[in-house]
Amino acid sequence: MAGVELREVSRSFGRHTVMEGLSLAVRDGECFTFLGPSGCGKTVVLRLIAGFERLSGGAISIGARVVSDPARKVHAPPERRNVGVVFQDYAVWPHKTVYENVVYPLVIRKVAKGEAAERAAQTIRDVGLSGLEARLPYQLSGGQQQRVALARALVSNPEVMLLDEPLSNLDANLREEMRFEIKDLQRRTGVTILYVTHDQEVALAISDRMAVLDARGRVRQVGAPDTIYENPGDSFVFSFLGVANFIPVERRDGLDFVRGTAVPLALPPADGGARPAADRLVAGCRPTDIALSPASSGDAERHAAGVLKRAVFLGASIDCRIDAGGTELRVLQDVGAAERAGLVLREGEPVAIRLHDVKWFDAAALAKEGLR
Ligand SMILES: Nc1ncnc2c1ncn2[C@@H]1O[C@H](COP(=O)(O)OP(=O)(O)OP(=O)(O)O)[C@@H](O)[C@H]1O
Ligand SMILES: [Mg+2]
Repeated sequence: MAGVELREVSRSFGRHTVMEGLSLAVRDGECFTFLGPSGCGKTVVLRLIAGFERLSGGAISIGARVVSDPARKVHAPPERRNVGVVFQDYAVWPHKTVYENVVYPLVIRKVAKGEAAERAAQTIRDVGLSGLEARLPYQLSGGQQQRVALARALVSNPEVMLLDEPLSNLDANLREEMRFEIKDLQRRTGVTILYVTHDQEVALAISDRMAVLDARGRVRQVGAPDTIYENPGDSFVFSFLGVANFIPVERRDGLDFVRGTAVPLALPPADGGARPAADRLVAGCRPTDIALSPASSGDAERHAAGVLKRAVFLGASIDCRIDAGGTELRVLQDVGAAERAGLVLREGEPVAIRLHDVKWFDAAALAKEGLR
């Protein structure tokens, strides 16, 4: 197996620069995800690694081998890179059976017939499609078609698998199941996986490490999912990893207020020294990190208050929209916990707000990101 290294990789189309100076090292055997918004260059970077696209500058190595380096006129063709690719639109050949789809890469590599048949059958078993060899893609579910695409990418024993949003066309349950299966495949085969997605849930679930890219294709943060989630490097990363509340906070006479309200804000007790000294800051909060209680409980005197504008029942939780001094907050209340504590709120009711966990951001930096 092999790692993948990108050194100062750039790609422009005419005058449009998609990426500039992208450097990353993916380790041998890891599942590494590029997470970024639509159009940030995720597909382009996979096509550069696969060799379908040429670099404008920089270099790419797979294992110890430099496969792209325009300055030295190096460009290994895709079939010499030993990578398996699953594209965004799962692209299985509609007129070939499952078996024909999977065996095809071996046929074009002129692998002996008997060996090709054996490897295709084994790979079909590996992805759980045994018994469906003779079916055509239209006779398969979306998830099964996805497995055909995976099997076709795996059959030639690649050192690296490049997966471009392979789960985007699946329903939520299948997507979850396939997430486990891809992870399982990586553990069983030791193959290095580069996975591209704009779905933060998939990225958090599947990655050993991930890179968060912004709309201009710049790397904002690289690390393990839990590290990035807990310690987002900036407000863009924070907002891209889930629903984000940005609460403008101002300090007056040593107390913090939600800007535009006269009621002090209840900060998490553990926040201690984490709050930077600036007078104007933004508190980043996940919907599950805000607790609500009826303002009549006495808390309203001490804690920032808002009004419950909307409460949408989602089954296990209630999705609440709070107006706090003109700032709209999304709060996810656990139904069970709220019922047990007698805290079921009604629309229009004034509420007290407590913040359990806060990430502090600089107000000016947030404005620059266009987040507020
Ligand atoms: N062959 C091409 N010629 C010109 N521009 C291109 C070409 N391929 C990609 N682009 C541009 O490069 C940018 C990045 O495209 P890319 O397909 O990599 O985005 P993406 O991150 O995969 O988005 P999505 O999440 O929507 O799939 C886009 O602005 C796109 O228009
Ligand atoms: Mg894409």
